[in-house]
Amino acid sequence: MKVLVIGGAGYIGSHTVYELIRAGHEVVVMDNLSTGYKEFVHKNAKFYLGDITNKEDLTRVFKEECDIKPFDVVMHFAAKLIVPESVKQPLEYYHNNVEGVRLMLEVMTEFHIKNVVFSSTAAVYGDSKKGICEEDDPCDPINPYGASKYASENMIKWVCNAYDMHYCIFRYFNVAGADASLEIGLKKDVLTHLIPVAIQAGLKIRDHMDIFGDDYDTKDGTCIRDYIHVSDLAYAHVLGAEYLVKNKKSLLVNLGSNEGYSVKEVVDVVRKYLPVDYRIAPRRDGDPAKLIASNKKARELLGWSPKYKLEDMVKSDLAFRKKINNK
Ligand code: UFG
Repeated sequence: MKVLVIGGAGYIGSHTVYELIRAGHEVVVMDNLSTGYKEFVHKNAKFYLGDITNKEDLTRVFKEECDIKPFDVVMHFAAKLIVPESVKQPLEYYHNNVEGVRLMLEVMTEFHIKNVVFSSTAAVYGDSKKGICEEDDPCDPINPYGASKYASENMIKWVCNAYDMHYCIFRYFNVAGADASLEIGLKKDVLTHLIPVAIQAGLKIRDHMDIFGDDYDTKDGTCIRDYIHVSDLAYAHVLGAEYLVKNKKSLLVNLGSNEGYSVKEVVDVVRKYLPVDYRIAPRRDGDPAKLIASNKKARELLGWSPKYKLEDMVKSDLAFRKKINNK
């Protein structure tokens, strides 16, 4: 397959590019490098600097590449994804996440590209009453990030319906860890996600960490999430793209592990390796109490299930953070 990966220099995009190349596919990356890194782009992938919210940038990549050979699949990773930031900057989230997808789809229709793989999120479910989310559950996001992704999901469905295209929508749960090569991993100026924050606290890059709320209606009062290793997640994209090309059918699946861990349990895993000091802080805006994936559909449709456990994510993130000098 020839695959365009928009956002392929970022965390999940770069890992997906590595897995696509390992599976023998041809990869073109477009990224604006706002949060991604040029050195994260696999050396066998062709790179274009471009912004998904700029139609000229998109058109240039599609024109140059499709003149040689059309894309079989386009993958979208170029999103803003920090829940508390989205609560403060909803317009930026709608612009980047929704308008970017609209332009991508417009250009795909102009070049008659038929398959799209889209990174969505467990945040579309909102404050799930059941706790275990199934794909057919009602969606009611409780923050602008989740709302922007849900709006994009719906747009993708309608566009695919109108233009005889197919989609693979993945709803990610909490992604962590780094590629076994340690060439790529989660690198950001300011880290906000639980596992790297706990590791930074353990490495004394920060004095302590905050646990945001211990009065939720959960077993120990802290929020429960379903953690998934980025390499497992990335490999699911290879399977999703191959499914679209082979079956010419759309699909929407959760990518998670069926298992939930509380914030305190995650911190305890990190404490096996590092001395982490934490304080209990007030709840953070936009946080649902419990989000766990049912991954039955991913197993049935794609033959996918996660290989790695929470401890593997902690170990590989720690190894990556040490490699990049504890940043
Ligand atoms: N948390 C802390 N302290 C921290 C950081 C996080 O207590 O310093 C808590 C949060 O309050 C939350 C949990 O750890 O309860 C996980 O928080 P993250 O920031 O790591 O991740 P989120 O659950 O907010 O969001 C992530 C992705 C979203 C995705 C969501 C789905 O960023 O894109 O998982 O579950 F939608």
